Amino acid sequence: MRKFIIAVSTLVFACTGSGPSNEKSTKVEDLLSKMTLEEKVGQLNFLIGDGFNTGPTLMTRESNNFDVLVKEGKITGLFNVYGAKYTARLQKIAVEQSRLKIPLLFGADVIHGFKTVAPIPLAEAASWDLAEIERSAQVAAEESSAVGINWTFAPMVDVCRDPRWGRVLEGAGEDPFLASRIAEARVRGFQGKSLADARTIAACVKHFAAYGAPLAGRDYTEVDMSERQLREVYLPPYEAAIKQGAATVMNAFNDFNGIPATANKFLLQQVLRKEWKFNGVVVSDWQSIGELIPHGIAADSAQAAQLAMDASVDVDMMANVYASQLIRLIQAGSIKQSQLDDAVRRVLQLKFDLGLFDDPYRYSNEEREKKEMRTDAQVNSALSMAKKSIVLLKNENELLPFSKDESTLAVIGPLANAPAEMNGSWSFFGEPQHAVSILDGIRKKVSPKTSVLFAEGCNLYDDATDKFAQAKAIAQRASKLIVVLGESAVMNGEGASRSSIGLPGVQLDLLKALAETKKPLVVVLVSGRPLTLEWVDQHMPAILETWTLGSEAGNAVAEVLFGDYNPSGKLPITFPRNEGQIPIYYSHKHGGRPYEGDYQDPLNVRIYKSKYRDVRNEPLYPFGYGLSYTKFEYSNLIIDKEKMSTDESVEVSVTVKNVGKVAGEEVVQWYIRDWVGSVTRPVKELKGFEKILLQPGESKTVKLNITSEVLSFYRADMSWGVEPGKFSVMVGTNSANVLAKDFVLN
Ligand code: GLC
Repeated sequence: MRKFIIAVSTLVFACTGSGPSNEKSTKVEDLLSKMTLEEKVGQLNFLIGDGFNTGPTLMTRESNNFDVLVKEGKITGLFNVYGAKYTARLQKIAVEQSRLKIPLLFGADVIHGFKTVAPIPLAEAASWDLAEIERSAQVAAEESSAVGINWTFAPMVDVCRDPRWGRVLEGAGEDPFLASRIAEARVRGFQGKSLADARTIAACVKHFAAYGAPLAGRDYTEVDMSERQLREVYLPPYEAAIKQGAATVMNAFNDFNGIPATANKFLLQQVLRKEWKFNGVVVSDWQSIGELIPHGIAADSAQAAQLAMDASVDVDMMANVYASQLIRLIQAGSIKQSQLDDAVRRVLQLKFDLGLFDDPYRYSNEEREKKEMRTDAQVNSALSMAKKSIVLLKNENELLPFSKDESTLAVIGPLANAPAEMNGSWSFFGEPQHAVSILDGIRKKVSPKTSVLFAEGCNLYDDATDKFAQAKAIAQRASKLIVVLGESAVMNGEGASRSSIGLPGVQLDLLKALAETKKPLVVVLVSGRPLTLEWVDQHMPAILETWTLGSEAGNAVAEVLFGDYNPSGKLPITFPRNEGQIPIYYSHKHGGRPYEGDYQDPLNVRIYKSKYRDVRNEPLYPFGYGLSYTKFEYSNLIIDKEKMSTDESVEVSVTVKNVGKVAGEEVVQWYIRDWVGSVTRPVKELKGFEKILLQPGESKTVKLNITSEVLSFYRADMSWGVEPGKFSVMVGTNSANVLAKDFVLN
């Protein structure tokens, strides 16, 4: 088991999965022995409940459509339905009318919050605050487990280095180390100490594997990469979640190196089951078993069922392939009875772990449904998480924070007064009326004397400019402008990749028109991904990236705008200057012909170095970047030895001082470079971080303990380990601004 050392030199020991206790395994085997073939297949069939999407919320409709299927043991559960009464009614049919009384699973996409909508996961990742992220997941578990849900299809841990991909919002960005620590925190938050606890839910780490690297950033396209890149960049967060005890895994849609993940034995058998010893449930993604046919890897449903079962996908979500094919394939002998039993065993173990056999109604609690939904504590958690997720990208001449006593503020933009958009594209259960718009947050925050004017300015993504005039008119009357631009919930998320990731529609034209007023102006961005912002960065004095912050969006943005909270977020993903730079990320290789010059230097027009003719190599904002209303000074980087042997460790420390006038939090980031290896190594890799609060004038010494494990990698022969040679340890406020010290591993 690999240990990871983080900045506070606390060893993070992952806990192993919950192996079946004797009593439980006896019960499972006993039940299994009584089940008919049909009943076994029924335990692998998983359907969505009756519901319909009304915009960002899914209105679940209680229905009797599943009563017979439940009674006959033909489904193992339902997903994306909820309600204490409704789920209790279906459980009652299962445990009183079905032959073997096996309770139901109720799964759901509780991706970032439930009724109290949390910031999108990419926003939470920008907080780098593991305790806050864990709490956010815990709140989601508290709320959803009160209304029958006992399984969430989260955390999504797909590393992504291509912001064109719509689902980048669901993960933790580009870096495997940060994504791994966040995956662990989310599993802890969802699952707590015991799955049988009525306030915890089973996690489902997804989408296994490498779904975040689709060709050209377009959702569902093929993924093709070396095993080295897979193991170094894309697998670590899945492994971290599983070592943290994630109960289930969801396989990805994508074709991986020629074999779709749903049928990929290397991923599911070799890596997941054999190397990581994962013996929990693997659930397919939505109809992904059936999709083996259009993928062209299965000629028909029978072959699709065979391939998925052979790869050890246990539960068929929505494809109805297992339900229609498994019995015949077992009877024909092409799928072994033991394969079927293994899958059913894992499902029954999950249901035992959730305590459903002891008390099938434990998650359907009308009392809790009334009392434990959107409590002050839960809403405050969403506010705290949201504030910490905001990244200050620019603040020329300390324009921000604004005074609460400004005479007249103009709040302009299509996302300023759009509460429903604040819940984001993966919030089935959040309700628009609970979300605080940015305009409302501002209105509540400023003094009664301040007049707050509002104009939409333009539509979200069409080219109408008829609203510009009104926006310019209120801008003329205001002392300062707050311009809220970016993406609505349908501009990102599943199936919502964008080939161009600038401000949609005519929003940039609106901004340019408002800039002509020469009024002090802050751009507040709402987005589910990095946007290309070169003009905004060059011409606007202040920029806040607020991502999509959920129920408490307006309150969180207002706290930052008016200085009640000093922004502390750091980018979990690189912001490119333009789409042509993608994929672009901080932990790139050095290459044989690096270019650090000025791409516009006329002397360098024809120079055989790695550069573009039309844009510099550097991103607009690097990984780990984020400003504060105060300033932090790094000094005194000390290394306790300059030579270490493989069984020793090096301790490095740095002093961080708040040299500004207000308290602030800083994310101290530690990076390593391995200068020479049997394979080329990245110019830097994140190996630790710590978020610290410093009062004005206060200093703190932050440490990192570097062992051989921290320096290990997949060597030329793909073995995991270290190699002797020169290393650099770097520390700083972002990946591009670091102090460095060298040392040698003997
Ligand atoms: C979707 C997503 C997956 C989600 C599942 C159930 O297509 O890919 O993340 O959990 O289906 O809604």
